[in-house]
Amino acid sequence: MFNINTAIIGAGFMGPAHAEALRRIGVNVIGILGVDEAESAQAAADLHIPMAYPDLNTLLSDPNVHAIHITTPNKLHFQMARDGLNAGKHVLCEKPLAMTSKETAELVKLAQQKKRAAGVNYNMRFYPLVREARQIIEDEEIGDVFSIVGSYVQDWLLYPTDYNWRVLAEEGGDVRAVGDIGTHWLDMVQFISGLKVTAVCADLKTVHPIRKRPKGEVETYSAKVQDIEATDDVTISTEDSGAILLRFENGVNGCLWVSQTTAGRKNCLRFEIAGSEKAMSWNSESPNEMWIGSRNAANQSLLKDPGLLSDVVRPFASYPGGHNEGYPDSLKQSFTAFYSYIAAGDFSAIPQFATFEDGQHEVLLCEAIFKSHQKGKWVEVGG
Ligand SMILES: NC(=O)c1ccc[n+]([C@@H]2O[C@H](COP(=O)([O-])OP(=O)(O)OC[C@H]3O[C@@H](n4cnc5c(N)ncnc54)[C@H](O)[C@@H]3O)[C@@H](O)[C@H]2O)c1
Repeated sequence: MFNINTAIIGAGFMGPAHAEALRRIGVNVIGILGVDEAESAQAAADLHIPMAYPDLNTLLSDPNVHAIHITTPNKLHFQMARDGLNAGKHVLCEKPLAMTSKETAELVKLAQQKKRAAGVNYNMRFYPLVREARQIIEDEEIGDVFSIVGSYVQDWLLYPTDYNWRVLAEEGGDVRAVGDIGTHWLDMVQFISGLKVTAVCADLKTVHPIRKRPKGEVETYSAKVQDIEATDDVTISTEDSGAILLRFENGVNGCLWVSQTTAGRKNCLRFEIAGSEKAMSWNSESPNEMWIGSRNAANQSLLKDPGLLSDVVRPFASYPGGHNEGYPDSLKQSFTAFYSYIAAGDFSAIPQFATFEDGQHEVLLCEAIFKSHQKGKWVEVGG
């Protein structure tokens, strides 16, 4: 479908997920790079990708590579995105775009100079009913928006023996639950409402100030099934959970609860948006259903069905009603938006995917949340 060649950097959880979604939309995945030659070779063999790159320079100097997908730990995003753009590649980077807003500002500027497509994989925007929620607001069906509340909770870091590179500030950033999952929620609700968060007041909590790091390799999300014998104690500064009060544009207010230590919640993002006419609520663990509340009529349950979606949203659903679409489909739709933009060739058009500017706003939010928590008071975003 797309006459373009892509290489993936990173071969852990997200690298293969990107490869699968890219193949579903007909992008040629011609190569992959892991942390070393052995990981590159293993990933290329496992995923049937023709080229196993030995290092980043070799990948970036390959003229057959038109676009790169960055799926490495957060601390590597900035350098890889910068080098990718400088090598003339289109760049689709996993979230968060970089570790600091100084880095993201540089990337935003560079992407504009190089006139390349530059996206951040905030894929949660691409669930069909999330896009329908946006359309419902745009069509003024819920009236004036009063409040936006919700949470993003998981349980994979519940125990002090659960460990991943993300728990270290130097690998993932000063804020962890906020940066790792909170930014998905923040991107989503700002996308739906068209309202930016302008100020925050945060109270973060490190449930486990010491975690047990296994002496060997740890795969992401594997702690529940991996047998660990020897460990080292590691001091943790990043938060496991946190409450954040939010001020949006237009006087709208709200709050977000994030947690990676809530037993039984696997990957549960919820939002509720209340307006002067109606309210809407959605849960990523049942993504094919959205609650629409009314005061003077029966509440509705809108099921994902192309026939029930708005004209502009219908292309984001690939299957008929009753055929559930989920997380892998959101990646497919995110990448379709990215490669359609490249194929159209008009880099002045407004992209459907999350841009580097959106990625920068999320990092500014992370910095404001961290500062607010440290100072114990409200902080303006970007202030
Ligand atoms: N959009 C989403 O839904 C979503 C979900 C999970 C993770 N993520 C993001 O994806 C990124 C990766 O997360 P993950 O869970 O896949 O991590 P992971 O640890 O499972 O995978 C990281 C991979 O990068 C490789 N790597 C490390 N250093 C490298 C280097 N210098 N060169 C090449 N490869 C290198 C590792 O060996 C590993 O294969 C993170 O930024 C994370 O925030 C996004």
